[in-house]
Amino acid sequence: MQPLVQRLTYVSVNSTDPEALAQDTADIIGAREVGREAGAILMSSNDRHAELVIHKDGSDSLRGTGLEAVSEEAIDEVKARAEAAGLRILSTTPSLECIDKSVTFATSEDHVFEVHTAMPQDRALRYVGPGMHPKCIDHINFTALNPAKFSDEMNASCGMLLSQRTTGYEISWMRAGDGRHHTVAAVKSHAAGVHHISWEFNAFQDFKGLGDLLASQDRRLVWGPGRHGAGDNLFLYFRTVGGLLYECIAEMEVIHDVNEPPRVVDPGENLSNWKVVNQWGALPPQEWIENTAPLGAI
Ligand SMILES: [Fe+2]
Repeated sequence: MQPLVQRLTYVSVNSTDPEALAQDTADIIGAREVGREAGAILMSSNDRHAELVIHKDGSDSLRGTGLEAVSEEAIDEVKARAEAAGLRILSTTPSLECIDKSVTFATSEDHVFEVHTAMPQDRALRYVGPGMHPKCIDHINFTALNPAKFSDEMNASCGMLLSQRTTGYEISWMRAGDGRHHTVAAVKSHAAGVHHISWEFNAFQDFKGLGDLLASQDRRLVWGPGRHGAGDNLFLYFRTVGGLLYECIAEMEVIHDVNEPPRVVDPGENLSNWKVVNQWGALPPQEWIENTAPLGAI
């Protein structure tokens, strides 16, 4: 079947210091603050109304993930399918004023998704400001006790397609209607949470700027640069103020065939199969493998 969601639109986080996280995201990534709503900071790196929503909270955690539905009718179908799959419907009230209609549900491990009508593209596409100015926020990688079940639930509710998985479902990658190799992914972990949030950049040349900006603040990369096997994308990772893991990518593979069967790859013990995790050879550090940030209140 065709996916009922087209793309990732926004990620919503809780932060103990929203101003610092927004400043850090502006200074390094290059997204800029575009407004505030109900106390939350809205950031965008393009013309989309909001891509990152930062709420003040007592924890640094993930609130929810926005997925744009392929049509208004698809939202009703997602709701019906989520209910049929035994998933909890949390709300049918949009989380942002600019969204006309949505349904918000939780997976069995409490990952929260809002499937919604198109987000207005009412911001300036280009703007003056610091940081490296990405193209967009492009994917999110969760941690889950059971990535296989997570993938089944995202397929059952949203029609997301399994692009690739490892032999033991240590990691699974799923695509939406835009065909990008992964829009959501899940890494097996001791707790449900968020592993990393990814921003897509125009070219590898931008990675030099990212590294130099971090070095100017006496900060280091967590992993990369490299090229993942799954998704074939260029990558680097760094930790934000507040402890989230940001990935910066370019050149994500696009799978045009909705009928392409899932690829199954052997990750090696402790993700040691470098052809899967990093075609250039450097394996992930333990810090990356064990990383998770909690799921917070919405
Ligand atoms: Fe990623």
